[in-house]
Amino acid sequence: MSVIEMKDIVTRFGTHLVHDGVSLHIEKGEIYAILGGSGSGKSVLMKEMIMLLRPDAGEVTVLGRSLMQISFRQAQALRRAWGVLFQFGALFSSMTIAENIEVQLKEYTRLSRQMRQMLVQSKLALVGLDPYVGGLYPSELSGGMVKRAALARALAMEPKLLFLDEPTSGLDPIGSRSFDRLIVELRDLLGITVVMITHDLDSIFGIVDRMAILADKRVAAEGSLENVLQSQHPFVEAFFKNEYAKEKYLNKLEAGGAVDV
Ligand SMILES: Nc1ncnc2c1ncn2[C@@H]1O[C@H](COP(=O)(O)OP(=O)(O)O)[C@@H](O)[C@H]1O
Ligand SMILES: [Mg+2]
Repeated sequence: MSVIEMKDIVTRFGTHLVHDGVSLHIEKGEIYAILGGSGSGKSVLMKEMIMLLRPDAGEVTVLGRSLMQISFRQAQALRRAWGVLFQFGALFSSMTIAENIEVQLKEYTRLSRQMRQMLVQSKLALVGLDPYVGGLYPSELSGGMVKRAALARALAMEPKLLFLDEPTSGLDPIGSRSFDRLIVELRDLLGITVVMITHDLDSIFGIVDRMAILADKRVAAEGSLENVLQSQHPFVEAFFKNEYAKEKYLNKLEAGGAVDV
């Protein structure tokens, strides 16, 4: 059974139609990417998966629950099953990293202060940050460390689902690849399902299992890289054209073959 299923989603803001029949499904344990041009409705679609926005029509099912007809209590329980990393990090700047990670633990659990601090330390370790980072403020961290800290906070409640909106934007290539490796490690270690909006073709080639490509207000192609590369949709072809050539070139190099440039 799919962890997330969207069927015939229609979304409009006033007269502006953003989605006109978007359907996709996300399986347990996969790293799933949502791709598409700027303004194609990727962030809106993710917000519909986490109940921040409600589609005008269609069905959204998350962890077996239909979001379109869910009780308040069920919605509250479901909200604890996911962690979210928004595009612009959004750590509270007036709180230390440890306090940021602790926010939801304070709000949703009755754990003792000591227990919460232990959990904070374990989350820091999980994302590869040293214990002392917990005592620092967001402004004292590098861009890559802020992303890791925000990830630690998203993981505080031990979610089954992790949502990431353009997690590597603003990171340099080295930081981006190391963040990608961390995502794969966390998926393997925790068995979580990861839904990620990205433009980063290195991530797409490197760590994504399946993806949906939004174009013309719909899913132009969905599936593994191999599947979507077979699409003849003009947007999909344009999106991958140069990068596919690059990948073939790199594979050839890796295989030790002669490369004619
Ligand atoms: N809350 C909102 N109110 C009105 N329009 C919105 C709102 N959120 C997004 N939009 C519009 O919906 C379209 C898709 O936005 P978004 O999903 O953020 O795009 P992207 O694919 O770049 O993430 C854009 O044209 C945006 O301006
Ligand atoms: Mg966006």
